[in-house]
Amino acid sequence: MTRIIISTKRLELKPLGIKYLQTVNEYAAYYENTKYMCYLPNDNIDETASFLSKVDLEWKKEKPDYYEFAILYSNKHIGAVSAYFEKGTGELGWIVNKKYWGNGFAYEAAEALVKYFYNNVGTSRFIAHCDTQNVASYKVMEKLGMVRIGERVGRRNRSATQTTFEYEYELIIEK
Ligand SMILES: CC(C)(COP(=O)(O)OP(=O)(O)OC[C@H]1O[C@@H](n2cnc3c(N)ncnc32)[C@H](O)[C@@H]1OP(=O)(O)O)[C@@H](O)C(=O)NCCC(=O)NCCS
Repeated sequence: MTRIIISTKRLELKPLGIKYLQTVNEYAAYYENTKYMCYLPNDNIDETASFLSKVDLEWKKEKPDYYEFAILYSNKHIGAVSAYFEKGTGELGWIVNKKYWGNGFAYEAAEALVKYFYNNVGTSRFIAHCDTQNVASYKVMEKLGMVRIGERVGRRNRSATQTTFEYEYELIIEK
């Protein structure tokens, strides 16, 4: 069982899971909140529940392969930030309920996540991907100090009928 809580100036990051079903579904099943995402929007709340049950199981592992955190602002659940690990590299992801966009929350949460894994696990390489049209997402990457290292065709967002282009960003923290 892994239980990590990260606090920032305005936010708390806590293990995401089924207890957040309603508030996750509010953004995860909403087209405007997910149009640039590969695995969202969910078709219905059952699909959101199935994802969150997997997240709960992952948190039960002694050494999870991925970490999905709920972002809490004034005790309200407003989004999620994640790190998925492969060969020591952390792939970052984020989503904030549209009602809370533009307040610096995604950046604040992601910065705290990077610091946590650097300080506690020694992770010094992070990557992130996004649709080339997803300006908000790559602005978060750039604010984190990430550098664009690639652009490729073939991204398939779930709600899109055609493939699009995606950027890859990287952050290497010198030890
Ligand atoms: C991407 C997302 C998480 C950003 O959340 P947010 O909390 O609004 O972002 P922040 O307020 O932390 O913004 C960080 C930086 O990006 C900039 N930014 C945010 N949205 C922007 C937009 N639509 N256009 C241009 N810049 C934007 C901010 O101005 C800020 O930079 P600054 O401090 O230099 O001004 C949010 O837009 C979202 O949930 N999108 C839908 C889900 C998604 O696409 N996730 C990524 C999948 S790859």
